[in-house]
Amino acid sequence: MLYGRRSGHRLRPARRRLLEELLPRLAIRPEEGRMLDPVGLFGDRRPLWLEIGFGDGAHLAAQAAAHPDIGIIGVEPFVNGVAALLARITREGLDNVRIYTDDARLLLAALPDASIARLFVLFPDPWPKRRHHKRRIVNRETVAAFARVLEPGGELRLATDDPGYARWMLEALLAEPRLDWLAERAADWRQRPADQPPTRYEGKALAAGRRPVHLRFRRL
Ligand SMILES: C[S@@+](CC[C@H](N)C(=O)[O-])C[C@H]1O[C@@H](n2cnc3c(N)ncnc32)[C@H](O)[C@@H]1O
Repeated sequence: MLYGRRSGHRLRPARRRLLEELLPRLAIRPEEGRMLDPVGLFGDRRPLWLEIGFGDGAHLAAQAAAHPDIGIIGVEPFVNGVAALLARITREGLDNVRIYTDDARLLLAALPDASIARLFVLFPDPWPKRRHHKRRIVNRETVAAFARVLEPGGELRLATDDPGYARWMLEALLAEPRLDWLAERAADWRQRPADQPPTRYEGKALAAGRRPVHLRFRRL
């Protein structure tokens, strides 16, 4: 389900056309109660990466361009973000992206065990108020799902500029025995991985003087 249809109505006609014509060709729609067949996504057994909450798609498109042999699934329920990614896909001629336009938890439930080689959750909505913590996309249940869908040796990358959410994430991640934190020194969580392009929210955080935290975990 795509959210933000009201703002979607204000989309430029070219972007609206992308939603009507290109999205149906790239959209993933798992059948209810059935697991997704990863081979069916691109027609081969290429490694799959997953980005949850891709926002304007800048990071996802840059990764797809830099890794043409990887298939990248992007999850984003907001229509303006989906339209922005579709525009990048067209502009850059990317053919290794698929899109899921609903809640990431529904897609996670439909992904087979050990089907994802790398998973990104970059600057998820922090929901800082205590009564909203239950809305956070990173929690013990989703961390267990991340561990289940990641293949052995696969990597989970998260980032946030909210110190409370960083602590919350770490608590959930360190409690998951199938995941191993790759940090050895402070620089490992203070610096974005060198092969990871910045996201829009990361730019905003840095401009506002906030220091993002980058977390990398390996699936054991
Ligand atoms: C703060 S923005 C960050 C966007 C992007 N990752 C960045 O760093 O610029 C969080 C994004 O997560 C998306 N999002 C929120 N809830 C989600 C969910 N349940 N499943 C997937 N994406 C979700 C939002 O629509 C939004 O685009």
